[in-house]
Amino acid sequence: MEDIGDYEEVKSLKSLKMEKGLLYETIVTTLNGEGEGNAAPIGVICKSPKEVILYLYEGSHTLSNILATGNFTVNITDDPILFTEATLGDLESDYFIPYSEYLILKGASSFFTATMKKVKSIKRRDRYGESRLFIITADVKRICKGKNFKEPLNRSIYAIIESLINYTRINRVENKGDIIDRILEMKRVVDKVGGSREKMAMKMIIDSLRTKLDQQSNALQR
Ligand SMILES: Cc1cc2nc3c(=O)[nH]c(=O)nc-3n(C[C@H](O)[C@H](O)[C@H](O)COP(=O)(O)O)c2cc1C
Repeated sequence: MEDIGDYEEVKSLKSLKMEKGLLYETIVTTLNGEGEGNAAPIGVICKSPKEVILYLYEGSHTLSNILATGNFTVNITDDPILFTEATLGDLESDYFIPYSEYLILKGASSFFTATMKKVKSIKRRDRYGESRLFIITADVKRICKGKNFKEPLNRSIYAIIESLINYTRINRVENKGDIIDRILEMKRVVDKVGGSREKMAMKMIIDSLRTKLDQQSNALQR
């Protein structure tokens, strides 16, 4: 097994600042039956300090590799180039470090290995159409926190910041509907991936926006 560098083994996902119920954007690495590596950005839900859930759409290498081997690694990074390269194409093999029957992404600020314990497949209809989704529940095995630890990415804080920026534009903008649509789209993100504080913040923004717009329309009617 290759030396993986500066990581300290920890016992719980809490040590990686992962909270129960939140969805984090990570890069999941897997191996196929022939031992070839793969990496893809995947959202990981923290179910408990030692369990995660993945929602995987039919057709990805990540899904077929996890179904074939039962194993995957969740790599935590905030590197925009790693996310982009892993999305637009295949990462070169020198990005990967073999780690027992797992694969680690070089440069990950932390990572943990996991083994599938339950899989359920459902058909889901959303705004993009109908698709088959595999819900994978997995036990977390080894958790390694890097010396350069960074918190895992959760989109809800960015959605709140975007909403606040849009909120501050409402008095200046001609097309108020555009601002409302943007904020409602951000609310959808927060409802999907955020925790209770983020949902509370979003509610405060929307309530205040509603009051502001009501006052403006009353002023116009006077
Ligand atoms: C930030 C981000 C998060 C993603 N999360 C998921 C996810 O949770 N489930 C999923 O099926 N696809 C997700 N995707 C899409 C996959 O990464 C994409 O389908 C990828 O091409 C699959 O690659 P693979 O075939 O190498 O596994 C996500 C993409 C991005 C950019």
